[in-house]
Amino acid sequence: MPLVPKYIKDLGAYKPGKSIEEVKREYGIKNVIKLASNENPTGPSENVINDVNKTLYKSHRYPDPSGYELRNLLAKKYDLKIENVVLGAGSEGIMSSIMRTFLNPTDEILAARNSFIGFRVLANASGNTVNWIKMKNYRYDLESMAKEINEYTKVIYLANPDNPTGTYFNVDEFNGFMQYVSKRTIVIFDEAYFEYAQSVKDCPDSMFYRYDNVITLRTFSKVYGLAGFRLGYGFGHENLISNLMKVKLPFEPSFPAQIAGISALKDDEYIIKSISLNNDGRKYLSYELSLLGFKFIPSVTNFITIKFKMELEALHFVEEMLKRGIIIRPLVGFGWPECVRITIGTMDQNIFFIKTLKEIKEEFHGISIN
Ligand SMILES: Cc1ncc(COP(=O)(O)O)c(C=O)c1O
Repeated sequence: MPLVPKYIKDLGAYKPGKSIEEVKREYGIKNVIKLASNENPTGPSENVINDVNKTLYKSHRYPDPSGYELRNLLAKKYDLKIENVVLGAGSEGIMSSIMRTFLNPTDEILAARNSFIGFRVLANASGNTVNWIKMKNYRYDLESMAKEINEYTKVIYLANPDNPTGTYFNVDEFNGFMQYVSKRTIVIFDEAYFEYAQSVKDCPDSMFYRYDNVITLRTFSKVYGLAGFRLGYGFGHENLISNLMKVKLPFEPSFPAQIAGISALKDDEYIIKSISLNNDGRKYLSYELSLLGFKFIPSVTNFITIKFKMELEALHFVEEMLKRGIIIRPLVGFGWPECVRITIGTMDQNIFFIKTLKEIKEEFHGISIN
């Protein structure tokens, strides 16, 4: 028996983007902006900061392992029973619990290649067979995925809208796909960017369908502006949720994360403002990128992915942006080497990004854009 299982040895280490501090140090720049991790650029809501601050004196106590108050609020908001709600250290924490709860050694996982990298790491670390299906035109190819479902398929992962492409599959595509999924297969329906796509009419809201074998995952990391707290939630049939509750780390999520979530759910104004800022930013960036002749994937999320002809250009672009104090995300690790993902920022950040883009474009006269 090897000390480290082969499937763990073979895992590539996760390469995060550069931090603001690293870029300041390495490039000697004072003002650095990060448009790389699809975070809410406005910071957490004031109410959340105040509520968390007020309760930090209780931090010597363990948190409520059942997450009762926050689960109850979520259940009320979405018209469910508390038994249908699970919390985790980010939605990735819940994904991890799902893998540990439901997979037997001979079970298989089905997922789209080049979708959310966090799931890819969890799937490869599980030791189970994973069937990675190619995406088509930067979108989920649900037809091909449906054809690959077999009697061993236990977990299917769907991110909708998808990261890093920003595309979505629609209600009909989703319903069509679900016809092929057996009742003993669990579908992880990852809706991390759900709030940003809410106004898109044919983008499915998985809550509306309530399939018994679908676990919907959502997060406080994106529109709620709480990525650093590590807080996500999931909805599903109580038989699934009760088993997840047994397997999740007992004191996940942390006490401040639970307080932050409770406070954030009461601050609708912050969410409305954040969505509106993002809509304006997406419109502005899409318009300017088109004017400048850049090709990008139309997005329903809080990021836009630009396509270059080849990896070399994409990496060069990232480096030139870094030198000018803008951190963006190359997508080599995701399997899209020709692409670069830009998180939509505040209006000032978006304007600075476009201004810098114009400088670079001129400097690199003839940068070949797809
Ligand atoms: C599709 C998708 N799912 C999940 C996550 C992770 O969310 P969390 O911070 O809740 O773990 C991300 C984060 O980038 C994401 O893009």
